[in-house]
Amino acid sequence: MQIYLDSADHHEIAKWSREGIVDGATTNPSILFKDGVFDLEEGARTLARLLQDRPLSVEVTSDEPAQMLAQGRALAGLAPNIVVKIPITNARGEPCLSVVHSLSKKGVAVNSTAILSFNQAILAAKAGAAYVSIFAGRIADEGNDPAVVIRNVRGWLDAWGYTAKIIVGSIRAVIDIQAAALAGAHIVTIPPQFLPKMVDHKYTRDTVAQFNRDAERALEQMSEARAAAAAGLAGR
Ligand code: E4P
Repeated sequence: MQIYLDSADHHEIAKWSREGIVDGATTNPSILFKDGVFDLEEGARTLARLLQDRPLSVEVTSDEPAQMLAQGRALAGLAPNIVVKIPITNARGEPCLSVVHSLSKKGVAVNSTAILSFNQAILAAKAGAAYVSIFAGRIADEGNDPAVVIRNVRGWLDAWGYTAKIIVGSIRAVIDIQAAALAGAHIVTIPPQFLPKMVDHKYTRDTVAQFNRDAERALEQMSEARAAAAAGLAGR
């Protein structure tokens, strides 16, 4: 399974990349705004450069399918590792599958986003999306179990030989990450604030502190033994 950062924060992407756990990154207009990236094209170029060959998802900002198509082409042209995010429908509920289909046929990697149901995910895969972004937190907001959706979509993709990868986003707590991983997500995109919580554990700290104390005591014993041996030699 891969881990993406659901972030446009350069420091976080660079920091966790150094830890070797970042396979890519996802953004959306809300994330870019929150992280202070107001110039979409310039921001996308800079983040894409930072990620080198790892994918960066950047979402179109138009609500009109024809404009989404033009903007999607332009975004894809900014850097070779940019994946274009197209919502499964626009704000009026009109399908954006034709945009996914056209871009995919032109060789643009498309991330079909804002997916909240099994049916939306399979249509996105059929239209040619390289990624389907299932929004776990928003599915749970409505009283549904995201793990069931993820498991069913993964089963369907595998059974029918689709190569689309499931990205699980809309992570609200650490438990959502492990639930998504165990349900069959190919990728979980994680807001950076959850990574320290994933890696840290109070008992690990206590364990490491105990090892450090005992290593120090062993060094003391060794230097005492050496000093005693040297004193013995000197007394002969
Ligand atoms: C990722 O691709 C999504 O855009 C993001 O995770 C959505 O998260 P939200 O539901 O917290 O806005």
